[in-house]
Amino acid sequence: MNPCLFIILSFLLLLFPTATASQLITVGEGGDDRNDANMKKCLDKERDALLLFKAPLHDPYDTLSTWTADQHDCCNWSGITCSNQTGHVTKLELFGHGLGGEISHSLLNLTYLNHLHLSGNSFHGTIPTFIGSMTRLRYIDLSDNYHNGTIPRSIGSLTELRHLDLSYNSLYGTIPPEFGNLTNLQVLRLGNVERCRVEKVEWLSHLSHLEVLGMDGISLAKQNHWVDVVLSLCKLSHLSLNGCELSQVMYPYSSFLNSSSSSSSIEFLSLQSNNLTSSMYRWLFPLTSNSLQFLHLSSNMLDGIPKYLGNLCNLKTFYFSDNSAAVKFPDFLNNLSGCTSLSLQYLIAPGSQFTGSLLDDIQRFSSLNCLYLAASHLNGSISEKLWELPILEILDVSYNDLTIPSTIHNSSLSYVNLFDMRSCKVGPQFPKWIKTLKNLTSLDLSNTGISDTAPLDFWAMWPSRLIYMNLSSNNISGMIPDLSSNFAKKSAIDLSSNTFHGPIPNVPSTLLSLNLSRNKLSGGISFICQIVDGLLYFLDLSHNSLSGQLPDCLWHLKQLKVLNLGHNNLFGRLPPSIGSLIELEALYLFKNNLSGELPLSLKNCTSLISLNLGANKFSGTVPVWIGENLSRLYVVILRSNNFFGTIPVQLCQLANLQILDLSMNNLHGTIPSCLGNLTSMVEEGFSQDELYYTIGISENIDETETYVDHAMIEWQGDELEFFGSLRLLKSIDLSSNNLTGQIPYEITNLHDLIALNLSKNALSGEIPEKIGGMKKLLTLDLSRNNFSRRIPSSMSQMTLLNDLDVSFNSLSGRIPSSTQLQSFEASRYDGNTQLCGPPLTKKCPGDEESELLPIIGEIDEVERWFYIGGGMGFATGFWIACGALLLNRRGRHPFFQFCDSFIDWIYVKVVVFISSLQKARQT
Ligand SMILES: *[C@@H]1O[C@H](CO)[C@@H](O)[C@H](O)[C@H]1NC(C)=O
Ligand SMILES: *[C@@H]1O[C@H](CO)[C@@H](O)[C@H](O)[C@H]1NC(C)=O
Ligand SMILES: *[C@@H]1O[C@H](CO)[C@@H](O)[C@H](O)[C@H]1NC(C)=O
Ligand SMILES: *[C@@H]1O[C@H](CO)[C@@H](O)[C@H](O)[C@H]1NC(C)=O
Ligand SMILES: *[C@@H]1O[C@H](CO)[C@@H](O)[C@H](O)[C@H]1NC(C)=O
Ligand SMILES: *[C@@H]1O[C@H](CO)[C@@H](O)[C@H](O)[C@H]1NC(C)=O
Ligand SMILES: *[C@@H]1O[C@H](CO)[C@@H](O)[C@H](O)[C@H]1NC(C)=O
Repeated sequence: MNPCLFIILSFLLLLFPTATASQLITVGEGGDDRNDANMKKCLDKERDALLLFKAPLHDPYDTLSTWTADQHDCCNWSGITCSNQTGHVTKLELFGHGLGGEISHSLLNLTYLNHLHLSGNSFHGTIPTFIGSMTRLRYIDLSDNYHNGTIPRSIGSLTELRHLDLSYNSLYGTIPPEFGNLTNLQVLRLGNVERCRVEKVEWLSHLSHLEVLGMDGISLAKQNHWVDVVLSLCKLSHLSLNGCELSQVMYPYSSFLNSSSSSSSIEFLSLQSNNLTSSMYRWLFPLTSNSLQFLHLSSNMLDGIPKYLGNLCNLKTFYFSDNSAAVKFPDFLNNLSGCTSLSLQYLIAPGSQFTGSLLDDIQRFSSLNCLYLAASHLNGSISEKLWELPILEILDVSYNDLTIPSTIHNSSLSYVNLFDMRSCKVGPQFPKWIKTLKNLTSLDLSNTGISDTAPLDFWAMWPSRLIYMNLSSNNISGMIPDLSSNFAKKSAIDLSSNTFHGPIPNVPSTLLSLNLSRNKLSGGISFICQIVDGLLYFLDLSHNSLSGQLPDCLWHLKQLKVLNLGHNNLFGRLPPSIGSLIELEALYLFKNNLSGELPLSLKNCTSLISLNLGANKFSGTVPVWIGENLSRLYVVILRSNNFFGTIPVQLCQLANLQILDLSMNNLHGTIPSCLGNLTSMVEEGFSQDELYYTIGISENIDETETYVDHAMIEWQGDELEFFGSLRLLKSIDLSSNNLTGQIPYEITNLHDLIALNLSKNALSGEIPEKIGGMKKLLTLDLSRNNFSRRIPSSMSQMTLLNDLDVSFNSLSGRIPSSTQLQSFEASRYDGNTQLCGPPLTKKCPGDEESELLPIIGEIDEVERWFYIGGGMGFATGFWIACGALLLNRRGRHPFFQFCDSFIDWIYVKVVVFISSLQKARQT
């Protein structure tokens, strides 16, 4: 597909999710049609080997269902190809099936195997050394799995190998120099393995047949000769060295002088994320030539491009995003204005530090199909010449400071995004030029300052063409007309955050995603019953004035993953058909008037990750099946309802639980001590089983991307919207119930808990002595209970504690000394008549005039981060950072690997975020 559209769509996903993972799973081709009676049948020994291979595997999609002993001819099994002359198994192709487990030794008995393709599964353990003795292998692809350990040297003896791909695994150590023996290799991909390095790059020069080389993320920092080595590979056409620490290589002058005479045949060159400065163009020169078609220089420190890049007459795709040095955009275009300007089709440079505007020079770029310059600091007005580009289809100049001309007359555009956060330059009137874009399939006018009604004919402009419409975050008013026939199949509509009023119209039954949240829509939601095609997977109607009952017709919504009806006036019971939403991952019904007991059928929704039923009138006991059946839950919010009874111990079975909020109900009894076993609150790190939606806006998009959860939760009395960051929170809130007894000491095992609120209950006894071990706690509220005795001295170790309230208990003795405990206002200790010492003015018996400890240290640290973070909110910043990550990722592992190394950074950000909220509340 069009790479530019893919990038833009990925960007979109941050705003808007669509389609499901299961729809996008590729199925490996099975064996050939083997109807021919002359064909040899599978050999018993090989069939047994395959059954042994299958035996330990976890097979979530039943891919291997044909692999059974009674299906005698294993050549007909899925993923198997045999030789039609000998019946030997020659190919094993099982990619993208989620298969998990270790690769069995039994493969050794497939002595004629020449093709092994297991990528995109969940195989783990080390890459077996025995693979080196399967001498017929010509093709090995184990990429995108969880293999760990080192790369076996034995692979170096597979001298017939043509294709080797071990990328996207968790391997470490050195790339074996024995790979220099693989002289027939044409494709070598070792990128994105966790911590691999190259000891000496010389062995590469033996691979004279190499056409494709990918070593992303493998340090070449000490390899001064890599340019020479690469230039010696005269068949090389595809070179990917992203994140290889190339900036740290010192190039001897002679190296590039000599090599500049050689010519390379490289067509694809990717050098992103290397911190390269413009001095690298000296050695880039010998690598680039007329053959170059694809050049990726993003995420470096380049302050421009040299004029010779304008002479690459075949360059079609040029990435230049996220370069941290300022570049004058007119100069940039000018340097490309040789024959490159005639060949360039995709110019992708979002997030760059361009200055200046889009001037008339742009008209030279007559092949330009996609121009993606979002968030690139461009300013001034856009040249009218832009609209004269004959085949420009995709244009995204959002998040700049550009003035959009009032007329646009180019009907070749099919995707246009002028989304601009800061300078509402499209509105306030609804743009009339939209009507000239007859070929539009995707329209994003979100947050463009439109304050108008949409003309009636607008909605029907592109009947059956439009797959994506986003008008969100404007001030568009009026009623929404019947949309049921205005969209293509499998489309996505986002009209959120406007002032549309009136009832929800009919929508296409084949819709994938609908977001009408934050408008003034009223009336009932029975339109849901007309969505019978079962494709809908995202529905957000929150923050409207919708009323009535939730209709009992959810049977068709088999794919629904997110249902958000929060902040409306819905009433009545949850209908039993809610139990048919077996794919549902997030159910948000926060702030309505729903009542009655939770229907038993809800326990069918075993995919639920996030359950938010707070601020309603639900009653009955907290169902035990929440803990027993809904094992994926990481958010359970039942606050502010009429639940009664005790806290069911089954909740402790929720190993992923990070947010438990049962506050403001009528619960009684004790706090179950098993809460101390809540795995995800004991262990560091964050749930990876969070809300990720896979998206595919149109049918021809075979790539997938994801989008993280955002949800409303209550935080210390304020209702907050956490985007993405929700999974970073670990919190227990049992406040405002009638709980009695002591705090079980097991609670102090929750070393990763960030917030604990047990206030306004009837708890008694001592505060557990080891509470100080909960070092991550930022907020602790034990106020308005009957706690007695001393404040444990261990609490002086809680250096991050940022909000403490122990008021109105029966605590006594000295408040332990620490930088932290003395920094809170005295009111946080009020109502404990026997408590003494700073910050209270009351001296402890026998105290002399004691000095107040200076309030410095950790607090300053937190404050400092607060100011760095600004008041802008963590969510935005997080998305700007992680949005960029998402653009680069392929499959799930790299994202997590990348993000894992960000965990510390993220934690600091959470601290910042929370402290900024507290600041905001205080002022
Ligand atoms: C074996 O099968 C392949 C694919 O069906 C076919 O192209 C080839 O001609 C066959 N060879 C023989 C010897 O039958
Ligand atoms: C290969 O097959 C033979 C005979 O079926 C069996 O004894 C042997 O254990 C197998 N080898 C492996 C490595 O599974
Ligand atoms: C590989 O990962 C597993 C856990 O999946 C671990 O038990 C094993 O020790 C790891 N092996 C190596 C060599 O790192
Ligand atoms: C493979 O390479 C190693 C070291 O590079 C060498 O010692 C060995 O002889 C080579 N083996 C073969 C079969 O070429
Ligand atoms: C990139 O270079 C800058 C300045 O030379 C340095 O501070 C930074 O750590 C480098 N980043 C990486 C990832 O090497
Ligand atoms: C609009 O699309 C049609 C078919 O999809 C195509 O034939 C036509 O050339 C396009 N118009 C422009 C101006 O690109
Ligand atoms: C819940 O699941 C059970 C068994 O899987 C099924 O019989 C029942 O119909 C389901 N209930 C609903 C409301 O879908």
